[in-house]
Amino acid sequence: MHIHQQPTTPFDDQKPGTAGLRKKVAAIAQPHYLENFVEAVFRNVPELTGGRLVIGGDGRYHNDVAIQTIVAMALAHGVQHILIARQGWLSTPAASHLIRARGADGGFVLTASHNPAGPEGDFGIKFNIRGGGQAPSSLTDAIYETSRTLDSYRIADIAPVAIDEVGARELEDGARIDVVDGVADYAALMQQLFDFDAIRDWLSQGHRIIFDAMHAVTGPYARRILVEQLGAPEAAVRNAEPLTDFGGGHPDPNLIYAADLVDEMMGDAPADLAAASDGDGDRNMILGPGLFLSPGDSLAMLAAHLDRLPGYQDGLAGVARSMPTSRALDTVAAARGIDCYETPTGWKYFCNLLDAGRLTLCGEESFGTSSSHVREKDGLWAVLAWMNILAVTDQTLPELARAHWARYGRHYYQRHDYEDLDAEIAERVISELRGRLESLPGQSFEGLEVTAADDFAYTDPIDGSRAEAQGLRVVFGDEARVVLRLSGTGTGAATLRLYLERFVPPGSEMPDALEQLLPVAEAVTRLRAISGRKRPDVVT
Ligand code: G1P
Ligand code: ZN
Repeated sequence: MHIHQQPTTPFDDQKPGTAGLRKKVAAIAQPHYLENFVEAVFRNVPELTGGRLVIGGDGRYHNDVAIQTIVAMALAHGVQHILIARQGWLSTPAASHLIRARGADGGFVLTASHNPAGPEGDFGIKFNIRGGGQAPSSLTDAIYETSRTLDSYRIADIAPVAIDEVGARELEDGARIDVVDGVADYAALMQQLFDFDAIRDWLSQGHRIIFDAMHAVTGPYARRILVEQLGAPEAAVRNAEPLTDFGGGHPDPNLIYAADLVDEMMGDAPADLAAASDGDGDRNMILGPGLFLSPGDSLAMLAAHLDRLPGYQDGLAGVARSMPTSRALDTVAAARGIDCYETPTGWKYFCNLLDAGRLTLCGEESFGTSSSHVREKDGLWAVLAWMNILAVTDQTLPELARAHWARYGRHYYQRHDYEDLDAEIAERVISELRGRLESLPGQSFEGLEVTAADDFAYTDPIDGSRAEAQGLRVVFGDEARVVLRLSGTGTGAATLRLYLERFVPPGSEMPDALEQLLPVAEAVTRLRAISGRKRPDVVT
C-alpha cells in the first residue's frame, strides 16, 4: 500500500460547533477540505494508530465519498481495524454503541443531523471518542488549532472499498476492514433494555404505532425492530427508505417539519403512539391521540416511569438536562430524591457524568432524550421506552400526561427561533442583554419578579473543565424562566433561540401561560426591538 504525504494549505474555518463540523456540501467538497479536518483529528488522537475505528453516517449526499477518504487516511495513519457500517448507514446512537461495544478507539459520524441534504445541502463530520461520546471541547479545540497550521496530510492509495454488503477484508500489512450490519448491535441492545414481549403483546392487542423515519437513517432500524422484531405492520414505518437528499425534506421531528403527522394525531389519531426521528436518528418526537408531548414533559415523565422497564430496574442514578430545557425534570428528581444536573447545550456535556455513573437519563428541549446505554441522544430508544411504558401501565399517553401534571404541576414551554439574522445584530441582542443582566434581579415585569439573571457558565463536576457564555438566563423563581442563546449548529447566518418556560402548580391550568410570558420576554431581552423582527421563524 502506497502512502502519500499530500501537501495542503490550512483552512481557517474548521472549528467544530455544538455537534461537530457542519458546512455546505460545496465547502466540504473543496479539494483537501475534508482531508485537512480528518488529518487534524488523527494528529490529536494518537491512539487511533494501531487502533480500531468506526465509520458511518446518516446516508446523506457525499457520505459515500467521505467514507472512502476517511478509510484511505485511516490506513495511512496506521489504523489496524476499520469497521464501516453497510451502505454507510449508522445512526448517531448506533455509532456510539458500536464504538462502545467493539472497544473502538473512536469513530467518524458523517452527519449534519436534520439539516437539509443533497448537493446544495449541508454536510457534517463528528468525531466520537473511546466510550462513544462526542469529542470534548478540549479535543475539538486542539483539532481546530491543528487545522489552522496544517501543511500536509497522509493518505493511502487504495481502490474504493465496497460497502454494499457485510464482509471482511484483510489488507497486506495486517490491517483489516469489516463492513458490518449497522443495525444488529443496536437492535440487540434495545432488546436488553426493553420488554419486547410486553410490547409485542401490546401491539397484538390492537394498539397501533406510527413511526416516521423521514427518509433518513432510522428507516432500517425501525423496520428491523418495530416490524420484524415487535410485529408492527409494515405500514407502521413511514418513509423508511433512506435517501441521499432525505426526499427533499427536512428530517427534524417537530411541530413544523413533521406537521402532517401532528395534524393526523390531533385529528382522527390513527395510532396510540406516533413518533418521528431526525436525519441521524438521535432526535425524537412523541405524539399521542390529541397530544403533542413536549420534549421536556417527555423527559420528566420518563424519569417518573423508567424504573418499570427491564434495563432500569435498579432505579435512576441521577438525571440531567441542558440549561434551556424545561425544569419539569427537576420536580420529578426532587420528588424522587435523585440528583438533577443542569449542563450547557450539547450532548457532550452529559458524557462525563454518564461515564462516572452519576446519570441514568438525560435530555434536551431540542427533541433529544437518552440514557446511560450510549453516549448520544437516541430517538428510537425514546420511542421504544414510550411503547414499553404504555404497554406496562396500560394507560394512554394523554392519561399518563394528565396524571403527571396533576401530581407535579405543569411546565408550559416553547422555543422561538429567529433565523437568518445578521451575525452582528444577533450578537448585539446578546451583548445588550448581557450588559443589563446585573440590573435585572429585583425588577418586576407584568407581575413576575426576576430572582436571578446570569450568563450561564458550567464547571464539569468530573474533570473541572469550564464552559463560559453558554446562554443568558433570566429566572423568575420557580414560576418562569426566559433564556436566550445563539445557535451553535448553523452553517450560514445567525440564529437566536428564545426559550420560554412557565410553571403552573398542580390543580390549576393556564393555557395561555406562554402568551402571557411573551411581553415579559421582550421587555427583558428587547430581541424584537433590536433585531427589527416581528415574530419568530419557528416555534417548537
Ligand atoms: C441544537 C440544539 C441542541 C442540540 C444540538 C445538536 O444546538 O439546540 O440542544 O444538542 O442542536 O443536535 P444549537 O443550534 O442550539 O446550538
Ligand atoms: Zn440529529
